[in-house]
Amino acid sequence: MLLNIKHILWLFCLCQTSLTVMRPVSGSLSGKVVLPCHFSTLPTASPSNTTISATDYLRIKWTKMDGEVESTVLVTQNSVIKIGPGYRNRVSVPSHPEDIGDASLTVVKLRASDAGTYRCEVLYGIEDTQDTVNLNVNGVVFHYRAKSSRYTLNYNEAVETCRNVGATIATVDQLKAAYEDGFDQCDAGWIADQTVRYPITMPRPGCSGNLPGKPGVRSYGLRQPEETYDVYCYADKLDGEVFFAPTTRKMSFEEAKADCENRNAVLASPGQLHSAWRKGLDRCDYGWLSDGSARHPVAVPRMQCGRGLLGVRTMYRYRNQTGFPEPTMKLGAYCFKGTVFNYA
Ligand SMILES: *[C@@H]1O[C@H](CO)[C@@H](O)[C@H](O)[C@H]1NC(C)=O
Ligand SMILES: *[C@@H]1O[C@H](CO)[C@@H](O)[C@H](O)[C@H]1NC(C)=O
Repeated sequence: MLLNIKHILWLFCLCQTSLTVMRPVSGSLSGKVVLPCHFSTLPTASPSNTTISATDYLRIKWTKMDGEVESTVLVTQNSVIKIGPGYRNRVSVPSHPEDIGDASLTVVKLRASDAGTYRCEVLYGIEDTQDTVNLNVNGVVFHYRAKSSRYTLNYNEAVETCRNVGATIATVDQLKAAYEDGFDQCDAGWIADQTVRYPITMPRPGCSGNLPGKPGVRSYGLRQPEETYDVYCYADKLDGEVFFAPTTRKMSFEEAKADCENRNAVLASPGQLHSAWRKGLDRCDYGWLSDGSARHPVAVPRMQCGRGLLGVRTMYRYRNQTGFPEPTMKLGAYCFKGTVFNYA
């Protein structure tokens, strides 16, 4: 007899698959999440109905839904696995889902572009059930240049500088995830592991590094800590709100600072502005930030604002893209208000 215990069960009962409802899941850039999808096989009381010759047929399909467009993330069918482009080496399901009733999708090296709605479909025997789960991805990598000039930060100063602007020095994995999302910056910057790198999605002369003609993250390798470069920082989830101070007049740096304080807020740090941009903050006016720089976030591409490019734009004093504006310059302000806990 080649029938295993499961075949025998199938012969004498009608097994029913069911999925539990899923909650939204949050992860961080370059991190790992598990999108839950549980199913169980429960015998149902149908003693008269013994004619179904179901097999152990199991099919799991994970799909990402972007509005009307659906793309396949992963399909497993009778132990054959197919993985969609963009998900290679990044997604998996348990190796024997039917033993544990678990078709959850593990996603690693998370990208901002992974955020969205996913559908899990499990076909087990004769039962087909599906459900959806939402994924949020927090965190953003940004380039930071000191106020004085280009390439002025040694390794320790680079670490400290990120901390002072509401962020941490980016890891290699965070920079790589940002690159996969389209981050392009032709400036060498310190990374947490004391290497110096920069991400290029559009290869061009002067930005070749060790990968001439190819897109990729360029690396100068491990550097002496006293060498000086710019830095790549990482800002996580925003615990509060960033807003453009709705003033009728433009302000100097000191006036902007006072204006935010009058609103029970403070000037936002560059890290906070980048996190707010990632969440969709869009504004075409330059505003002062806590470090004395002036920037504005572009979340919706428009030709008349940032030449159709997305990202946080920085105002430099000089044409060679160095220096912060004179503090007397009249600009707007980006204020930050932390999440307020009310103990009343
Ligand atoms: C067995 O169950 C199925 C589904 O519940 C039903 O459609 C079918 O008529 C049943 N067959 C018998 C022989 O009772
Ligand atoms: C950028 O331009 C300013 C003003 O012209 C100059 O003082 C500074 O040395 C330049 N910096 C670099 C890195 O070229």
